[in-house]
Amino acid sequence: MPYPRELITTDVDEAVAVLRAGGLVAIPTETVYGLAADAEQPDAVRRIFGTKGRPADHPLIVHLADADRLDAWVREIPTTARTLAAACWPGPLTMLLDRGPRVGDWVTGGRDTVGIRVPAHPAAAEVLGRFGGGLAAPSANRFGKVSPTTAQHVLDDLGDRLDPTRDRILDGGAASVGVESTIVDLTVEPPQVLRAGAIGVDAIERLLARRIDPARGSRRAAGMLRSHYAPDCRVVLADAPDEAEHMLAAELDAGRVAEILDRTDDLVVAAQQLYADLRSADRRGLDVLVAVLPPPTGLGHALRDRLRKAAADRP
Ligand code: TXA
Ligand code: MG
Repeated sequence: MPYPRELITTDVDEAVAVLRAGGLVAIPTETVYGLAADAEQPDAVRRIFGTKGRPADHPLIVHLADADRLDAWVREIPTTARTLAAACWPGPLTMLLDRGPRVGDWVTGGRDTVGIRVPAHPAAAEVLGRFGGGLAAPSANRFGKVSPTTAQHVLDDLGDRLDPTRDRILDGGAASVGVESTIVDLTVEPPQVLRAGAIGVDAIERLLARRIDPARGSRRAAGMLRSHYAPDCRVVLADAPDEAEHMLAAELDAGRVAEILDRTDDLVVAAQQLYADLRSADRRGLDVLVAVLPPPTGLGHALRDRLRKAAADRP
């Protein structure tokens, strides 16, 4: 079926008009494309869940144009949030804070906390600036599947679910970071990092001059499923290139179509390309992708997390 190309636009004014009218706009961000709606229009936000096939109790991140607009989206702004906002926004950091009166249950799934992010992508910043309010947006992929880093990825995933008469995909090129934002929960003592991203735990510890804990507890882990970011092909993990060669040989011997994914020489490129690599494995009909895990330093943490989830047993 030909996808409706008319969904794609580069016109920021058109995107803003669609959002005001209660439509959905897939927006480019520096991490991944998000499927955005006006956070204060419950019906528009509900359509995000329907379009993704995402359970309604999985909370959405609210995106704002800048940190000066936090008032009323959060109950109070702790010093930790001011410090991180000054150093990391706009950028790939989401802060969990106690929610304010502008945040409805339809955004948080009834939770009393809200994730807030100020994205750095110029097109996202322009949309948010002109729109003025908050945009609720999860990654613009089908639930549990691989995140999108180009407008074409969004079209491939959601082209048959979006409505060309009221929704749009804003094409802002390929995402420069390529993996989702770091999520830090500032509502607990000490703060916890719930999802690894381009901003490392060590950087947050340095900025706040204190220890940060890894995520723990079921409430904290909501939405952080074990299996996620999953292509259709099986993903198996190797700790080193020679191990990957052995695993590849075994798969080929067993008659399966398999390849190695090893971008450990440049982790910035590895992150930029990760989701395109996973999608390409499916497009080329691989049965198995043997992925070499990068070392647990810098972006390596985020890449290891995503690859482990891509390799986890499916529900
Ligand atoms: O980089 C990103 O963060 C991208 C771009 C579009 O901004 N967004 C993104 O959203 O990755 P999403 O919905 O795919 O992932 C957000 C994760 C989910 O696992 C969700 O459950 C969790 O953050 N989350 C959001 N708000 C939360 C809250 N109040 N409490 C606990 N977890 C929350
Ligand atoms: Mg997602």
